[in-house]
Amino acid sequence: MSYANYYSDKTSDIDDRWFFFTQIQFDWILERLKVHYAPDDMFSVMDLGCGTGRLLSLIADAFPNAKLNGVDGTPEMVKTSINRLSNNATITQANLNNYVPDQSYDVVISTTVMHHLDDPHAHLRMVGDMANAHAFISEFAIDTLTLKLANIWWGLTQKSHKQAWPSKSFQIMIRNNGLTISDKTILNPDHFWQLQIYDLTQCNINNICH
Ligand SMILES: C[S@@+](CC[C@H](N)C(=O)[O-])C[C@H]1O[C@@H](n2cnc3c(N)ncnc32)[C@H](O)[C@@H]1O
Repeated sequence: MSYANYYSDKTSDIDDRWFFFTQIQFDWILERLKVHYAPDDMFSVMDLGCGTGRLLSLIADAFPNAKLNGVDGTPEMVKTSINRLSNNATITQANLNNYVPDQSYDVVISTTVMHHLDDPHAHLRMVGDMANAHAFISEFAIDTLTLKLANIWWGLTQKSHKQAWPSKSFQIMIRNNGLTISDKTILNPDHFWQLQIYDLTQCNINNICH
């Protein structure tokens, strides 16, 4: 699998190399979870493409009773997540391109995974179907000239890079796949990167959100 080839030898130092890039997203998600849940609440979380399990471990620190789950397709990532989270989480190795979830979760998360996937629409629908209350999605925002050029370069040079989206078209894709955006922003971990991140809290027909 091209994504597993790409990530297998990057697993050991990915957390250090990409610390600020990931932390700014994780802080955004944690801030919102803290609005919805008290520290001792019990709720279930699924992190799709959980990587080294760093976000799950931050959720475990903030919400010790949360029931944590993660899926990733790179064996080294899965091993690292299992070591990091010991018995506090269920981590499964699976390819998200054909993953069939067997249950739903209170919170479903997918951070910077979609640019690797064959069918981003199917991924969004799966996130919507799996999430009982809250979902969070992030991706690069191909909104600047430098990121537009970088996106072309990645497409030509990295087999695992399938596509990435300007924020406007990503938002249309989210809505067209039945999800409601309740909060969104563009995060700038540095001068180069722009990350689009969405809180897709589920709202009912009266627009009451959980
Ligand atoms: C950029 S990393 C993001 C990791 C984590 N979500 C984070 O924000 O730190 C992308 C992750 O998605 C996983 N991944 C990519 N394509 C996948 C697929 N088709 N099935 C399962 N995992 C996949 C990779 O193994 C990698 O761990």
